[in-house]
Amino acid sequence: MKIAFFDSGIGGLTVLHQARKILPDEDYLFYADTAHVPYGEKSKEEVRAFVLEAADFIASQSVKALVVACNTATSIAIEELRRTYAFPIIGIEPAVKPAVQVSTRKRRKVLVLATELTLKEAKFHHLVERIDHDEIVDSLPLPGLVRFAERFVFDPEQVIPYLKKAASGLNLSEYGTVVLGCTHFPLFKDSIRQIFPEDTDIIDGSIGTSNHLRHQLAERGEIGGGAGAITFYRSGIAVADPQLLSHYHDIFKRLDDLY
Ligand code: DGL
Repeated sequence: MKIAFFDSGIGGLTVLHQARKILPDEDYLFYADTAHVPYGEKSKEEVRAFVLEAADFIASQSVKALVVACNTATSIAIEELRRTYAFPIIGIEPAVKPAVQVSTRKRRKVLVLATELTLKEAKFHHLVERIDHDEIVDSLPLPGLVRFAERFVFDPEQVIPYLKKAASGLNLSEYGTVVLGCTHFPLFKDSIRQIFPEDTDIIDGSIGTSNHLRHQLAERGEIGGGAGAITFYRSGIAVADPQLLSHYHDIFKRLDDLY
């Protein structure tokens, strides 16, 4: 049986890239809801319906686990998905807790980069309230990065001016830690790194999520049995277009360089 990864678009590949490092002997199904991307600029009700529709399709493919490799979808629908399906469902949320824990240095402030919807949701506010006792956490939505990624645009010459404009209201030299709270954002780590001081830590949740996945499978004695193959779907349709498959391959190569 396969392990399914789900995202609104190609962002989930950043989590799958990490999971394959620690779970190489698995086969994977990667589902991008490209008919409805971006989620981050839509309403909660719309995103909930998209996620439930995608999960319904994924469940019909007999999978042994589902990784919701999308912070936005996790914040909207993870509890409902867990109530609906018997296989393990692993979500991802902005890594605020590790960020606050490591930020003991001179520049203590933490900046969380995510989608507008993730930052608006109660789940994020509760997370920050629980952890941010010294009020060191700020946040910034970056919808443009999702749009760049879906067009396979990663050129720093285009990305950096966008980032600088989006962050123009903040003093970027104050932040010691930056959290990539949207799975599309690790694809831009090179450009993001350039707008912050050199020693700023940039963290994301893909390692934690992948470890959690491994742990859940181990508990059920379900690790292994595959050969590292990935089957790609776009909103319920299997991807056969060689050009698109080669774009996905390029994304993995990009992530090999960045991580
Ligand atoms: N990759 C997604 C996330 O982690 C959502 C991007 C979007 O569709 O706006 O939040």
